[in-house]
Amino acid sequence: MRSVILAIESSCDETSASVIVNGKVLNNIIATQSVHQKYGGVVPELASRAHQQNIVVVVDEALQSAGILKTDLSAIAFTRGPGLMGSLLVGVSFAKGLSLGLKIPLIEVNHMQAHVIAHFIADPKPNFPFLCLTVSGGHTQIVLVRDHLDMEVIGQTQDDAVGEAFDKAAKVMGLPYPGGPLIDKYAKDGNADAFRFPETVMPGLDFSFSGIKTAFLYFLRDEKRKNPSFVEDNLNDICASVQQHLVNMLITRLVQASEKTGIKDIAIAGGVSANSGLRKSLKETGNKRAWNVFIPAFEYCTDNAAMIAMAAYYKFIRGEFCGLDVVPLARMPF
Ligand code: KG4
Ligand code: ZN
Repeated sequence: MRSVILAIESSCDETSASVIVNGKVLNNIIATQSVHQKYGGVVPELASRAHQQNIVVVVDEALQSAGILKTDLSAIAFTRGPGLMGSLLVGVSFAKGLSLGLKIPLIEVNHMQAHVIAHFIADPKPNFPFLCLTVSGGHTQIVLVRDHLDMEVIGQTQDDAVGEAFDKAAKVMGLPYPGGPLIDKYAKDGNADAFRFPETVMPGLDFSFSGIKTAFLYFLRDEKRKNPSFVEDNLNDICASVQQHLVNMLITRLVQASEKTGIKDIAIAGGVSANSGLRKSLKETGNKRAWNVFIPAFEYCTDNAAMIAMAAYYKFIRGEFCGLDVVPLARMPF
């Protein structure tokens, strides 16, 4: 049976739509909200208003560029959670309206599962079972993936996400939001061994990033007392050192997860997987340990509707639909 699915992503600050036909993603339209930049982080109220403004335009562009009419659609998919409630509500309500108007089924998608499923949009695709390190502004998880829709979180952060640690470190250095990509940029010309930071070690395969956030704040405060232009004088070295510290925390746990499960197919997903230090370290560790490493294209690392479309396709072929009474979930387990 031919399947034509329109997918909508609105969990945080990107409004995105994608069309997938018979399991092949045709496009991935993304409207990024710049309104948050001057506030140093995502402002939930502004995010939901921007989704309201963007969603019709983004959906129309996805349908038009795919050459698809609304009447061609077999189903509508949307991100149910996790995410910001006001943002999720826009996508969920829009999808419900289309489903009702077009009399076609609705498919709910878990955003974190979709980050993992992004690996199936393009080749090379990992073999099951594989491990996926999902790292974003809101999440840090090691996921054991048994099948497209059968996943288990085997390690996760007990407090902040690694993306938040990157962004907070950048913020205290006076860099604009989101600071993760800027740390990555300055780190390229820095000495990663210039400065050392303490590490909080959690039991099992879990992570903690709140300690490094505070330690970094005090480190800068103490250094600036000695030299007020410490950050300006050492920006590249500070960025390289903090990036290496965060990347090492991730890689250490990934190595332990691989040893514990015996799995050597290792993938990364989420916004922080765009980090060049993480990519390099993962490839080096992979070479040493004979891992098959999978890193998605940048476009599919950060929040996007193509990953929602891909996950929706696997639900569609299993006949997994939801009712019009479905509600968004700010927290949504697998
Ligand atoms: O997955 P994502 O787009 O949104 C969610 O949080 O769901 O991830 C955004 C996060 C931000 O914290 C951003 O600073 C971080 O990913 N990020 C990076 C890089 N690119 C994006 N962090 C470090 N290095 C990068 N190159
Ligand atoms: Zn995300």
